[in-house]
Amino acid sequence: MTETETLPKSAIVPASDYVIIGGTGDLSVRKIFPALFMRYAAGQVTNDFRLFVVGRQEINARDFREKLESHCASLMSGLDVGEEVMDRFMELVQFACVDISQPMSMAGLAETLLPLASDERPVIFYLSIAPSLFSAASQRIHEVGLALPQSRLVVEKPLGHDRASSREINDALLSVFSEDQIYRIDHYLGKETVQNLMALRFANVIFEALWNNRYIDNIQITVAETIGVGDRASYYDNYGAIRDMLQNHLLQLLCLVAMEPPARFNADQVRNEKLRVLQALRPVDAENLTLGQYQDYPHEVGVKTTTETYVALKVLIDNWRWAGVPFYIRTGKKLKTRASEIVITFKNRPHDIFTSDGSVDQEAEVPNRLIIRVQPNEGLTLLLTSKEPGPGGMRLFPSELNLSFGETFQERLPEAYERLLMDVARGNQTLFMRLDEVLAAWEFVDPLVDTVTKRIPLIYRSGSMGPADNLLIKDARYWIDPKEDL
Ligand code: BG6
Repeated sequence: MTETETLPKSAIVPASDYVIIGGTGDLSVRKIFPALFMRYAAGQVTNDFRLFVVGRQEINARDFREKLESHCASLMSGLDVGEEVMDRFMELVQFACVDISQPMSMAGLAETLLPLASDERPVIFYLSIAPSLFSAASQRIHEVGLALPQSRLVVEKPLGHDRASSREINDALLSVFSEDQIYRIDHYLGKETVQNLMALRFANVIFEALWNNRYIDNIQITVAETIGVGDRASYYDNYGAIRDMLQNHLLQLLCLVAMEPPARFNADQVRNEKLRVLQALRPVDAENLTLGQYQDYPHEVGVKTTTETYVALKVLIDNWRWAGVPFYIRTGKKLKTRASEIVITFKNRPHDIFTSDGSVDQEAEVPNRLIIRVQPNEGLTLLLTSKEPGPGGMRLFPSELNLSFGETFQERLPEAYERLLMDVARGNQTLFMRLDEVLAAWEFVDPLVDTVTKRIPLIYRSGSMGPADNLLIKDARYWIDPKEDL
């Protein structure tokens, strides 16, 4: 890969030490190290970086490399990355055996890290371990003097199972690190199209005037997955779709669609505006919440359970811009397609000049729609009404204006973790969740979880689009399903 020459100046990241605690675990070999490797191959991670794999047991470098290579293979397909790039990358990787339950167990690591530590060279700790170990890990870092002002801490969900437990976990981190040192990952914010949503809204003038309750009829957000819970059943069954997906990824998408334009594109201002959206969410009534479970889920989990693998809800935002505009949100596993989409449906035109009496022809009416495809086939579609070509009068038909990011930019779109890990090294918190956002999201979600405990989810067929049609039918609307043939 010869991206190095083409990287913009802003892409340069300072040399850093990454310390992945729980470095041999699934997240580390599946996401974190492949992301660092891809950034190495692209020239963003340079030979000045040091990467530490910290695990409880002795780690065999060859085994680690093998696992890593298998996870990098699909990322590298079609790219010109030779074996020698992996050889050089592995030279940056060091292994450390640390039992974080034991005081001073990081002393050896500190001896290696501290001599090079400086204001310009951050030490980045990634806690890729269970949150129940966060407190011990923070203490180990602190007691050996590694909680330096320039140190950074990366964590990701599950950060608790409700507001109270999330507060507790975060308090443990905050007893050692300050808020501006903590990077809470929601990997959806690292997706190119999700960031593009901000570019679409705040780098173009044409949408802003229409982006409100005068012109928008409803907004739908779908995050559909075809996979089931697989080998994550023990985690998932205690969590469910509301806590696993809605509390974080879907609410973050909602915030980006609904937020006011920040004055600057910086961490505090972007996060202030997202927080305002979360604080304006109206609590959801039970009849506006649909829960589902795919039919073979209990069989996969091995127990009879009422955990929801699908959730759909109608959300209202109580502010001037969005008063009265329903946001229909759904996510589920084992659905028909893997697709994440945001569909903005505009109101019908108020008057139709093309029918003879001037009234709007409801039959022929297809509203304007903006479809933002987050994944796969990232891009935008704007649904317009055009004249059907040829003689025969003014016959209208829907036509599409399509922008495919893949085709337009002809470049590999970096994976979410690649972007996010580089932002940590740059010290840019814009795409990470601030504590007040996390807590506000839990405040919205906690009552929904209470409803779940009192309800049996509707069973849906694997390969369907879930059981929430009625949620929209009662509003005389229907779900806009992602297209499968793009
Ligand atoms: C994770 C959830 O955060 O996101 C998983 O825990 C889910 O259950 C995954 O499958 C979806 O992410 P993506 O990037 O594949 O859409």
